[in-house]
Amino acid sequence: DHARAATTTRFDFPEVEAGIDERHHVAEGYDADVLLRWGDALFPDSPDFEPTRQTPQAQERQFGYNNDYVGFIPIEGSSEHGYLVVNHEYTNEHLMFPGIVKVVEKADKKDPAKMVEELEIAPADRTRVDIEMAAHGGTVVEIRKADGKWQVVRDGAKNRRITATTEMALSGPAAGHDRLKTNADATGTKVFGTINNCAGGVTPWGTYIMAEENIHGYFMGELPADHPEAGNYKRLGIPEGTYAWGRFHDRFDLAKEPNEANRFGWVVEVDVEDPTSTPKKRTALGRFKHEGAASTVARDGRVVFYLGDDERFDYVYKFVTAGRFDPADRAANMDLLDEGTLYVARFDEDGTMAWLPLVHGQGPLTEANGFRSQADVLIETRRAADLLEATPMDRPEDIEPNDTNGRVYVMLTNNTRRKPDQVDAANPRAANAFGHIIEIHEDGDDFAAAKGRWEVLLKCGDPAVAEVGATFSTETTRNGWFGMPDNCAVDADGRLWVSTDGNSPKATGRTDGLWAVETEGEGRGTSKLFFRVPVGAEMCGPLLLPDMQTAFVAVQHPGDGGEDWDGFGRLSFYEDLSTRWPDFRDDMPTRPSVVAITRQGGGRIG
Ligand code: FEO
Ligand code: CA
Ligand code: CA
Ligand code: CA
Repeated sequence: DHARAATTTRFDFPEVEAGIDERHHVAEGYDADVLLRWGDALFPDSPDFEPTRQTPQAQERQFGYNNDYVGFIPIEGSSEHGYLVVNHEYTNEHLMFPGIVKVVEKADKKDPAKMVEELEIAPADRTRVDIEMAAHGGTVVEIRKADGKWQVVRDGAKNRRITATTEMALSGPAAGHDRLKTNADATGTKVFGTINNCAGGVTPWGTYIMAEENIHGYFMGELPADHPEAGNYKRLGIPEGTYAWGRFHDRFDLAKEPNEANRFGWVVEVDVEDPTSTPKKRTALGRFKHEGAASTVARDGRVVFYLGDDERFDYVYKFVTAGRFDPADRAANMDLLDEGTLYVARFDEDGTMAWLPLVHGQGPLTEANGFRSQADVLIETRRAADLLEATPMDRPEDIEPNDTNGRVYVMLTNNTRRKPDQVDAANPRAANAFGHIIEIHEDGDDFAAAKGRWEVLLKCGDPAVAEVGATFSTETTRNGWFGMPDNCAVDADGRLWVSTDGNSPKATGRTDGLWAVETEGEGRGTSKLFFRVPVGAEMCGPLLLPDMQTAFVAVQHPGDGGEDWDGFGRLSFYEDLSTRWPDFRDDMPTRPSVVAITRQGGGRIG
């Protein structure tokens, strides 16, 4: 029995058995209670969730789809009362809308003599698109713990839904630039909505950060011939045309509104204290497929944000504010994100690293290379970083600083396209299927430093399969290993928690989950499974509150089986294994939900 084996880690909980089924599982002795489901009411006037009679208007008053980042902004410093902030990354129409999927017989692409079953999703109409747009964005909702259990405060004065249509301001060095102007906005400063908000952050001054990640899927149509943005958009994979939004909203059609896509791919800041405030897209932090924006205050009071760009062979960034955080004056901090330096990481073979400033006029970032101002550098951050010869990474996802030891953890989820001749010290495996975690140690324990050292903390995957080359400690059990690190959290004691995305192909017999990873001492590299998700889901969120008595996790796209769907909640990919988590009702689809984990009878998590 591994669960009670002697351990050198600081985590002391009975490990969950890895596996795959229709339910969630948490370590024995803990409760994992569903707090907020897609469609749940957030306001006194929110309509009941009726899956067969959805409307955009109802969805705007309800918790959105595919909860990803989860943050907590305390009210008066409490760990029992505050604002939960949650990103709604994207929508899975085949899981949301009943009756739109049918199975059709088609000739196999590889073997045309063979017929195979494929899914066909009915084309979207305007209402479906508008529901999807209302299900994107984020939620701010007051929550309170009473008698040990968390509750939503439905009449909370600050409760708010942010969607793909919420008015936002572009601010910082690129705001107002010609490349951000559209037919609807001659100022280049006013944009509607935020999309594909993946991980995120909460600033030291208590605002909510939403990162815009895979924006390419929302745009369709062709740029006019020889359009100057062609190269810029190609670098970001725009347009991909996954969503039908552009058929009903011209701004998502590049032929009609060629600059709109330059108004996405930013980091968005939301002042949760004022539910009528206009969220700001902070252009100083660059434009790419922003995974998250965790932050910390450097020794001199400047604030440092760590930023991943989730694409194969893209980069790790950080942003250092020019101004200093003033804990006594919230208003003075509110525009700190408009001025500062964006850096991209170069990981050198000898274990050192350099943070390369993305500053117009420095090095190759000049007019000769097509950068006429800092706005150009920020709008085409990736191209600027290419020219600086930053290190192409294996899909940088969440990055979290650890205030207790001055380290920074970088989740690199995988990159099966890395060829043997592209291997380097920081991306040490070709065809990296399971990902790895890098630990950065900034020079002088100073998060604002321009240089640092780094090492690979973990190569992920099953250590029992020698050719995978995983480096979990020998103390790690068969439940404790994982692949595809995605989101992560550092708790108040400086301990690392890692959640995964894509760990659950059928062959592995295990789902995604939340693992507790020791980073210090003899137990370094030991990992233990604390929570796992229902079949088809991805594990997002993780957050431990400062009092260490609550962990929040977000179960994203439960029941998603990739391409092999046949309707409303049944998962043919797994044959007889499907889920209607968390309601388990025939008339209710499976629903992405935020779960609150507490210790039975109270006490410290983990
Ligand atoms: Fe939205 Fe990179 O995960
Ligand atoms: Ca996700
Ligand atoms: Ca992610
Ligand atoms: Ca992911």
